[in-house]
Amino acid sequence: MTKLLHISSSPRGDASESLRIAGVFREAYEETHPRSEVEHWDLWDRSLPDFAIGAHAKMTVFAGLAPRGAEAEAWAAARRVFERFDSADHLLFSVPMWNGGIPYVLKQFIDVISQPGWIFDVDPATGYAHLLSDRRMRVAVVYSSAVWGPGLGPEFGTDFQSTYFSDWLRWTGLTDISEIRYHPTLSGDRECARHAADSAARDLAKSF
Ligand SMILES: Cc1cc2nc3c(=O)[nH]c(=O)nc-3n(C[C@H](O)[C@H](O)[C@H](O)COP(=O)(O)O)c2cc1C
Repeated sequence: MTKLLHISSSPRGDASESLRIAGVFREAYEETHPRSEVEHWDLWDRSLPDFAIGAHAKMTVFAGLAPRGAEAEAWAAARRVFERFDSADHLLFSVPMWNGGIPYVLKQFIDVISQPGWIFDVDPATGYAHLLSDRRMRVAVVYSSAVWGPGLGPEFGTDFQSTYFSDWLRWTGLTDISEIRYHPTLSGDRECARHAADSAARDLAKSF
């Protein structure tokens, strides 16, 4: 059975625009893919482990050694997070802009799963190898913001949200990436922007 994993990074529940748009995607996906499974992973549900000891374990692994004791436990906890991510056939991320970038739980998720041998390898001469590049995963990302918008000047902020996140996705080797955007801006027409985002979400879900 094909599994779509929705990974969300807004803590705002019913008030969240990115969750609402992702909900539109999921509803259309479920209608058009009745035999697929859809799983929702709310990154604010405290399922992400702390990565302080994990950072030591990562450097131990880089040094070619096996993590032991508390490091081994932290490494195993990170591996469980990676395996849940890796169990998906397709991914849907919903990502609000926070201070020009992404919410810190999503960065925590990235820092926990982006490990040598799982997501990447690195060679002194040839640089990074992207270990998910043989996966045929499709990825949809809902981006939302309230002030920044494409076409506005730097006085409304800079987009380190989608630039950073799509760079990370590509770095893992995932390249089949589609974006759904909701950037009403402070002076824009919210209803019109909502309608356009919902419609883009529906169309993309049907094509998945
Ligand atoms: C902590 C925080 C930081 C934010 N920073 C920005 C920002 O830098 N630029 C921007 O345009 N909007 C910013 N916003 C507004 C959100 O990006 C916008 O309301 C978005 O739609 C929120 O997504 P959500 O409704 O799914 O939570 C911020 C909101 C919060 C809560």
